[in-house]
Amino acid sequence: MPIIFIHGFPFDRQSWRPQLEYFKDKTRTITYDIRGYGASVSGDENLSIRLFADDLIALMDLLQIEKAIVCGLSMGGYIALNAVSRYEERFEKLILCGTQCHSDTDEGKEKRYKTIKLIRNGGFSDWAAGMVKNLFSPMSHERNLDSIGEIQNSVNSASQKVVVKTLEALAERDETCFYLPMIKIPVLIIAGKEDTVIPVSRSEYMHEMIKHSEFHFIEEAGHLVNLEKPEEFNRLVEKFIN
Ligand code: MLT
Repeated sequence: MPIIFIHGFPFDRQSWRPQLEYFKDKTRTITYDIRGYGASVSGDENLSIRLFADDLIALMDLLQIEKAIVCGLSMGGYIALNAVSRYEERFEKLILCGTQCHSDTDEGKEKRYKTIKLIRNGGFSDWAAGMVKNLFSPMSHERNLDSIGEIQNSVNSASQKVVVKTLEALAERDETCFYLPMIKIPVLIIAGKEDTVIPVSRSEYMHEMIKHSEFHFIEEAGHLVNLEKPEEFNRLVEKFIN
């Protein structure tokens, strides 16, 4: 069964490199750039999580993949949940990492619009440096300097226009919590115990709401759990997909 990895905001498919390396000889493994990121282009259209989920289905159609296992981290998880809530029959299993079903609170939205203003006023590099700091656990800041450097490069090279439009998409996204009790496929939920971007309680909530779900947290990892503890992460995913 093919496995498709969906990256978070504002990264690109390279952020799944340890997973691509590990799984590529075991099963058909697909990482791709979300519209506007990495090598993928976008035009003047508004962006939305729903549109990104439609893109995922279009990609599966193009690759003639009728059914896949889908694994989304953070925004990638929002996209996976949106797609599963509308096209569950296209998915065999779902893996949710450092993500949530909730939409933004008023306070969260306000923060996104403040960031948009900051970026429009020339503050992109300050924002990029600050946000990368928050993505990793203190332990990763000591030991995972290569991963941190790679993520910093991908954030720095993201298009400012696309970042602004994605911040709007994130602020205006619909919640998907309503669908959790209806999910029939098996779900694996993984979170870094020290995630300060999306608290572990959001993962625990999804675990309570999804009947066929298992939940694991990974010690000494923050938001980018797949890069911070790749061996543990890959083992959990491998066990689940087999
Ligand atoms: C992500 O890593 O994709 C973002 O932190 C998601 C978000 O800001 O809600």
